[in-house]
Amino acid sequence: MSYEIQLQDLRKVFPDGTEALCGVSLTCPRFKTTSLVGPSGSGKTTILKIIAGLLEATGGTVLFEGNDVTNLPPDKRNIGLVFQSYALFPNMTVIENVEFGMLVRKVPKEERRRKAHEALEMVQIAELGHRRVHQLSGGQQQRVALARAVVFKPDVLLLDEPLSALDAKIRVELRGELARLLKEFNITAVYVTHDQQEAMSLGDQVVVLDQGLVMQVGEPLEVYARPANDFVAHFIGSANLYRASVVEPVNGHVTVRLEFGEIKVPEETFRRRWSYVKPGPANLLCRPENIAIVDGQSAHAQLKVDECLFLGDRQRITGETNTGERMLVEAHSTVPVKKGDTVPICFSIDNMHFIPPEE
Ligand SMILES: Nc1ncnc2c1ncn2[C@@H]1O[C@H](COP(=O)(O)OP(=O)(O)OP(=O)(O)O)[C@@H](O)[C@H]1O
Ligand SMILES: [Mg+2]
Repeated sequence: MSYEIQLQDLRKVFPDGTEALCGVSLTCPRFKTTSLVGPSGSGKTTILKIIAGLLEATGGTVLFEGNDVTNLPPDKRNIGLVFQSYALFPNMTVIENVEFGMLVRKVPKEERRRKAHEALEMVQIAELGHRRVHQLSGGQQQRVALARAVVFKPDVLLLDEPLSALDAKIRVELRGELARLLKEFNITAVYVTHDQQEAMSLGDQVVVLDQGLVMQVGEPLEVYARPANDFVAHFIGSANLYRASVVEPVNGHVTVRLEFGEIKVPEETFRRRWSYVKPGPANLLCRPENIAIVDGQSAHAQLKVDECLFLGDRQRITGETNTGERMLVEAHSTVPVKKGDTVPICFSIDNMHFIPPEE
């Protein structure tokens, strides 16, 4: 049985006065993975520890499937935990590590073995059961940690940066596999990371945190394409963010004025896409892959290129507009651009997003 987790106005002030959580409310839906992402110190681990019951909140409530568990001790919560440091016993074998919790709970030997073996099969290292942990790679150790966390069939799985100790290549491989496993486990999971790509590829829902506050909750694409504020725009992905002025429609077109040029959008399109934007100041967001290098006529601005970074299939072009704003463009590698060129660029209107000015 897995359940929905609800956090209501969680607050945490540590004894030294550090305010780690300043009123966090969110719902982690049943059977789904919620990614908590944010910079170092934003409160991710604190939230996880409070859900696990390992840390007491200063205020607020934790509900599991509607039941208040705020004061329930950790061993009554049936939670599986996976942390960055695997916390495995180095001198025990893999299968002994997975069995350990059941040994403590006096589960009979045969049942212990069977369950541990099943869990190892699930994470695809059943053949390594007899090895000692110190004979495993980092990625394999993390699989053992995962097997150990799910062997109890927990109601909730909490993972705190489980991949961060691994090198880049294994990390990406294991990320894909973890995404598959989390679906297979069919469990409510909370996944903490400071890596925005990991958060988006693993989470059904992404929660962006900053300084103990929730900045945005949404599906990965929503958070990426329609960030709620400047912080989220910059933290998730690369952002070209410009101060704009939206002018009342004239002759069926809304004009978006920027320092370096203007963009005309049919009034009907503008209303449909950005009904919340009123005439006046706003911030315009355009992701690097939504800016195209064009052939002059339809250009929204001119970009003086100061760097081209070849990435294989793509290139990252950085430069400055004629009024000095920085711009990052991602284009196909075959687009002929080099350092020193001035090229006409065009924003993809369909993929633009406006962030209302902060009050
Ligand atoms: N025991 C403690 N005493 C005092 N302050 C603490 C304690 N534990 C954490 N903090 C502070 O609480 C804030 C949130 O910490 P937390 O560990 O939740 O951050 P995090 O988002 O997990 O960061 P990281 O990405 O670095 O792991 C930080 O400012 C941290 O310094
Ligand atoms: Mg942490």
